[in-house]
Amino acid sequence: MDRWDTWFAAGKGFAPITDKERAALADHLGPPAGRTVLDLGCGTGDLTRHLHTSGFKATGADLSAVAVKRAEEATGPDGPSFVQWDADTQDPALLPRPHFQVIVCRLVWTFLTDLGRARLLTLLAPGGRLAVTTPVRERLTTRQSTGLPEADIAALQSVLDAGRRTDLGVLALVSGRSPRGT
Ligand SMILES: C[S@@+](CC[C@H](N)C(=O)[O-])C[C@H]1O[C@@H](n2cnc3c(N)ncnc32)[C@H](O)[C@@H]1O
Repeated sequence: MDRWDTWFAAGKGFAPITDKERAALADHLGPPAGRTVLDLGCGTGDLTRHLHTSGFKATGADLSAVAVKRAEEATGPDGPSFVQWDADTQDPALLPRPHFQVIVCRLVWTFLTDLGRARLLTLLAPGGRLAVTTPVRERLTTRQSTGLPEADIAALQSVLDAGRRTDLGVLALVSGRSPRGT
């Protein structure tokens, strides 16, 4: 069992999504209008279900088999689908779609390798939007390794087409359209 499986098998989760965060994400993503969205590193699927009920065609993906099982158990038959998938090591062909109009990553970006991050950009449909919600390392007083340094947040924003940022306490939400040429 890896560390994520161990965490989820103990019944634990992560900081719940606040109303303020939901509102900021809605503002960044725009109208759902049936657009496809991948929630990468979905954990137990709270955000995936929220996006599904908002009107997106949502898929949650996570490397942790235990997280995916918990997400599926918490989801009704009309809910979103979930898949076990490791963005760093596994073939994107294992995902249910070759491209997504939106990809969201909540509290995950720090843990991805450069390869996994680059792979996600290739999964964006042309003009698709990536939205990354991450703790800001400089704002954390404990467990600073779980946060992304300000310089990396700025680099991510600058690589995205029309990248923008909203600050939410210790979190930053950065989104933008797929970089040209990806
Ligand atoms: C801090 S948790 C956040 C979970 C969820 N997004 C939330 O906001 O509650 C990080 C999640 O990313 C997943 N994860 C980490 N590396 C991953 C990778 N390479 N591919 C897919 N999922 C990954 C972990 O299994 C875990 O569920």
